[in-house]
Amino acid sequence: MMASSSHFSLADCHIVDLPKISDPRGNLTFVEGGRHIQFAIQRAYYLYDVPGGAMRGGHAHKALHQLIIAMSGSFDVLLDDGSQRKRFHMNRSYYGLYVCPMIWRELDNFSSGAVCLVLASEMYDESDYFREYAAFLDALRENLP
Ligand code: TYD
Repeated sequence: MMASSSHFSLADCHIVDLPKISDPRGNLTFVEGGRHIQFAIQRAYYLYDVPGGAMRGGHAHKALHQLIIAMSGSFDVLLDDGSQRKRFHMNRSYYGLYVCPMIWRELDNFSSGAVCLVLASEMYDESDYFREYAAFLDALRENLP
């Protein structure tokens, strides 16, 4: 069962092992709703042509669930729930990183040619963002029991 929105933590974020159909013609991976992700996909977006040394993300979402996949190349995802931080190195097309709401994330260390696909539970909505780390921490504190 998913935690209520005020009680998400880093422990709810995890790597999803996606199916890999190996084939001499090239490998194939798929993502199925209800099996590999527990949210309905409303939006997909992708980052590409990221210059060396650039950082993406740098925000948290109030309600958005996401699955992050390195479609090509590699990059790092730093997750932070306000009390703990964890860095994931994404370098396989058959691993997804599930990120629950109320997690600060930063993406960096992009390799040349890296493509980062994000499957998201909602349409783009700027009001769902915390773009300032201090505001994110304030919101976590306000939601403490
Ligand atoms: P931003 O969230 O800052 O990108 P990232 O977190 O990957 O670094 O978004 C950059 C710009 O793109 C910002 O103006 C909002 C816009 N945008 C959309 O219009 N739709 C989307 O689905 C996303 C993710 C961003």
